[in-house]
Amino acid sequence: MCKAAGAPRQSLNPHPPGGYAHLVFDCMDTIARSSATHDLGDRILKVNHAGEHGAINIYSGQLFMARLTAPGLVDELKAFRSHEQRHRSIFWAELRRRQRPRCRSYWLCGFGGLVLGLITGLLGSGAIAATTVAVESVVLRHLQQQLVALQGSDPAAVAAISSIVAEEQQHHDHSASHVQAGTLWSRLLSPIVSASTEAVIWLGMRR
Ligand SMILES: [Fe+2]
Ligand SMILES: [Fe+2]
Repeated sequence: MCKAAGAPRQSLNPHPPGGYAHLVFDCMDTIARSSATHDLGDRILKVNHAGEHGAINIYSGQLFMARLTAPGLVDELKAFRSHEQRHRSIFWAELRRRQRPRCRSYWLCGFGGLVLGLITGLLGSGAIAATTVAVESVVLRHLQQQLVALQGSDPAAVAAISSIVAEEQQHHDHSASHVQAGTLWSRLLSPIVSASTEAVIWLGMRR
């Protein structure tokens, strides 16, 4: 908070020690730091919003194929997709409140997610679960880092991020219970899906 902004009028020293220039620079520095933090919050919200769109499309692609290849996972995939739809609307509502546009990578995330979902859905239940575990592991780590970076400076962004963590953890844990460590899919898919998810987040966070 700028020192001058919150001070009662009568307490202002007419001759501050550093002069008025000092006060002005102090205010400018505070505003610059505050807008930098808000800018970080905006970018994180944009990336998360695009990521949720990608997740919806992964589950849509998997659902399309799972009706044939993994019918036992259909109900779970439907539930996960409905969570992701809710997550996307949380981030979109906050972006709209700030009058910020969606991320430039939004449609790319959606297309990439759909392709990944269709391919892994075709490969069956092991590939579907391994994909969710790999994506959610990266997502959960980033969400924790985002919360640390924004704590105390952007409460609205922190609230939006905090409201989705439990469901992302549930997706991870549920899917991990279907995956046996060291199986073909977890060994083959995990590094590719993890690296792709990291790359999407990194690209989205760049200006
Ligand atoms: Fe999500
Ligand atoms: Fe998720």
